[in-house]
Formats: sequence, C-alpha cells, structure tokens
Amino acid sequence: MTAQVITVTSGKGGVGKTTAVANLATALAADGMKVVCIDGDIGLRNLDVILGLENRIVYDIVDVIEGRCKLKQAMIRDKHYPELYLIPAAQTRDKSAVSPTDMVRICKELRPIADFVLIDSPAGIERGFRNSIAAADRVLIVTNPEVSAVRDADRVVGILEAEEKGSPALILNRLNPALVRNNDMLSADDVLDLLGIQLIGIVPEDEAVIIGSNRGAPVVTEPKSRAGQAFRNIAKRIQGQDVPFMDLEQKNALWSALQRFTGRK
Ligand SMILES: Nc1ncnc2c1ncn2[C@@H]1O[C@H](COP(=O)(O)OP(=O)(O)OP(=O)(O)O)[C@@H](O)[C@H]1O
Ligand SMILES: [Mg+2]
Repeated sequence: MTAQVITVTSGKGGVGKTTAVANLATALAADGMKVVCIDGDIGLRNLDVILGLENRIVYDIVDVIEGRCKLKQAMIRDKHYPELYLIPAAQTRDKSAVSPTDMVRICKELRPIADFVLIDSPAGIERGFRNSIAAADRVLIVTNPEVSAVRDADRVVGILEAEEKGSPALILNRLNPALVRNNDMLSADDVLDLLGIQLIGIVPEDEAVIIGSNRGAPVVTEPKSRAGQAFRNIAKRIQGQDVPFMDLEQKNALWSALQRFTGRK
C-alpha cells in the first residue's frame, strides 16, 4: 500500500472544501478503499462534524506533533466504514503549531497503511494552506461559479505552479443549471476557460448537501441526491476510472459544453 495524498483547497472560503473531503472520503471508503482524512483547518475544525465524529475526538493532530499521542491514537474510525479514519484539527489558536515538515512526516507514516490520504485545507494562502499542500501528490481545487471564487482559485493555481505541485484538477461546486441557462451564472465552460485546468467534476447546488452535513451523514450516502452522484463519480475518477460527466441539464447548452470538455481532456 502506498497512499496517494490528495489536498483539497480553494483560495476563497466557504466554497465546499470540507464538504468535498467528507463526501469523497466516504465514497472512496464505500468503494473499499482505506482512507485517512486530515483536517488541516487548525482552530476552525469542521470535518469531524460533517462526518458525524465530533463526539469521538480524544486526540488531535497537534497532540501527534507535540508527542502527546501516537498517530494511530489520533485516527478516529468512522461509524459506518471501518476503513475510513479522521485525524482532527486542534482547536488551538496557535496556527504555528503545525509546519509543512510535520505534515510531510505524518503523511509519510500514513502512506504504507492507506490507499488515500485526503487533506482538507483551510481557506486562504497562508500557513494552513502551505501545510496542507506540503505533502500533496495531487491537488483538487474547489470553486463556485462566482467571479470572486474563480479569481481566488486562479491565484492558487499560480502558487501551485510556482511550487511545482503539478497541475491541479477542478471541482466546480454549487452549479445551478437554471441560472446558467438564464445567463445569470458562470457556466462550467466559462470557469474552465478562465482557469485553464482539468475538470474532475461538477457538483450541482443541492439542499441535500446541507441536510447531510447537519446530520453528520455526507450526501454521498444518499442514492437519489444529484450532488451525491456527482461526488461518487469524482471518487471513481480519483481511482482512475473513466466515468462520463453527468447530464445536469437534460439536453441543454451545458450538456453540449460538457461534451466539449470531455473531448478536450
Ligand atoms: N453542492 C452544494 N449544494 C448546497 N450547499 C452546499 C454545496 N456544497 C457546499 N454547500 C454548503 O456550503 C457551505 C460551505 O461548505 P464547506 O464548509 O464545505 O466550505 P469550505 O470551503 O470548507 O469552507 P471554509 O473555507 O470555511 O473551510 C456549507 O453550509 C455546505 O453545506
Ligand atoms: Mg472547510
């Protein structure tokens, strides 16, 4: 086993990074993969709540780094998937408690025992972001179809290029096909043209995401949710499978645009 370390980041806050990590980790675990998620958002942890594991936290990543526990003691096992684990962030206000070297060391210890390590990055391009990308083999950028989010994502693409982290892949989250149709929202085509990176999935706006997050049950476990289906598809693409893009708009302009992207890949 040599885990692939995947970091989910965005630049702008609140676009769906933690939602993506919780859902992709759950989908990968449902596919039989051994997955360890790391909450990289020191001081503002969230991933534990979305995975429904907040009451099980005893140790966190700073306890590991400062030697108060072994790495395995900080790995919380999921309630439903025995091969899914979370290493929670600390609630400390001292963000310098974690360094890029610490993250590289922790991921080195996890690589032999997992198939995937998913790191939930904090917003911004400061230290927490630097920590989160330090050990990444692959970076996924989440953005919403909004000018400000795309602009921040573009900044992150530039930093990743400068750091020689390879080309990231894009998750376009919260797309509302009706708004796109009315020219009231950037289309997937627009966003991809602006960012010039590869698309790994489009997740529609779906209230089931919020309901699932509040219940601590990621939407990916909902068979009928469109967002759940989109995350399941992204998880398959992460595993190297060639999954066609969803028809989010039933025979309209976006679908033809999507077909163009897949042809362009
Ligand atoms: N596809 C979606 N449809 C509807 N709501 C969504 C979708 N994706 C995310 N959300 C909601 O958007 C909010 C922000 O999501 P989330 O916490 O995952 O973002 P984040 O990028 O991790 O934020 P932060 O930068 O603060 O860490 C949450 O309330 C979440 O439920
Ligand atoms: Mg978050």
